[in-house]
Amino acid sequence: MVNENMLLMIPGPVPLPPQVLRAMSRPMLGHRSDDFYGMYASIREMLNKVFQTDDEIIIISGSGTCALEGAIGSLIGEGDKIVALENGKFGERLKELGNLYGTSVPVEVEWGHSFPLDKVEAALSEGAKAIAMVHNETSAGILNPAPEVGKLAKKYDALFIMDCITSIGGDYVKLHEWGVDLAIAGSQKCLITPPGLGFISVSKRAEESLSEKEPYYSGIKTHLKSARKNQTPYTPALPLFYALEKALKLILEEGMEARIQRHHRMAEAVRSAITAVGLELLPQLDEYSSYSNTVTAIKMPNGIDDSTLRGTMRKRGILLAGGQSQLKGNIFRIATMGNNGPAEIMRVISELELVLHEKGVIKSYGAGVEAANKVLRA
Ligand SMILES: Cc1ncc(COP(=O)(O)O)c(C=O)c1O
Repeated sequence: MVNENMLLMIPGPVPLPPQVLRAMSRPMLGHRSDDFYGMYASIREMLNKVFQTDDEIIIISGSGTCALEGAIGSLIGEGDKIVALENGKFGERLKELGNLYGTSVPVEVEWGHSFPLDKVEAALSEGAKAIAMVHNETSAGILNPAPEVGKLAKKYDALFIMDCITSIGGDYVKLHEWGVDLAIAGSQKCLITPPGLGFISVSKRAEESLSEKEPYYSGIKTHLKSARKNQTPYTPALPLFYALEKALKLILEEGMEARIQRHHRMAEAVRSAITAVGLELLPQLDEYSSYSNTVTAIKMPNGIDDSTLRGTMRKRGILLAGGQSQLKGNIFRIATMGNNGPAEIMRVISELELVLHEKGVIKSYGAGVEAANKVLRA
């Protein structure tokens, strides 16, 4: 039986506010009608506030990967090179998409490690149409150096594509300042909407550089043309639009600065608790990278395995994320995204400490709760 009260502490989908869930039960409306056009216009206006940009934003009915494919596939064509930075699962995906539409020039480091900027510069200096980076690498809990990579992109006249799927709505994303041309987001992360919508903000420069051919379903040109008439080219996932409209209102009611600060505080509380109980964080930082504020990646401690740790937590009503691909079994992840707050963080940390203690991984419990509490109540 599905436990409907399971506390989701995974990096999407996130728990949804009841108002957002209720919004989806509204009757359908015709998507070629003024009712829809009005809703679409108001959603796009709110999205601009949340993305903190005046670049045009398109909404695609499809998950984050669908929007990523739309972005890369619309900009990169046969014969084009794209520098793809990989320090985790989603960087790997950018590289794969680049190779599907053009040629990726990969800059690869061990997952969870920081990118040496001299290697990034060396790759760009060979000449490339674009560079793609994951801002917040969800698989490894690391926040990559957007301002520095943006500067390098500018220096070598490459367009900057940034996967902001787990940063927009939960962390600072300064698209204009950092020179990001295409920023991609997803509904089920910090935007407290169910899975199934992807977003791309498109700079003027990116629009002028789009390639002749584009993916049929998620192509930027096609979506921009319709969006300018407050329409979608194909039938939109209407209930998700209803949910998104409500979610954006709630996000703007909280205010972007307060929301981002809340995410920072939650992640800091988790990190502080994790290190207080003697566990280690995965990322290997340098002066330009930092820990993610929306998901914390923790090395699996000795004396317990992934299925015991996460399985016991699940029995206690809390869902944590595991590692992906090569990190499977080696790490577990606690997400701090969406509308969770101190109550949820304290519950996760106290249950985690109890489980680790019960299984003999730590000798005493309480240090984590105390550390998290100190951050959250500061
Ligand atoms: C950074 C990042 N990029 C891309 C994706 C893929 O998004 P989706 O699963 O919505 O296709 C995810 C999903 O977790 C992600 O965290």
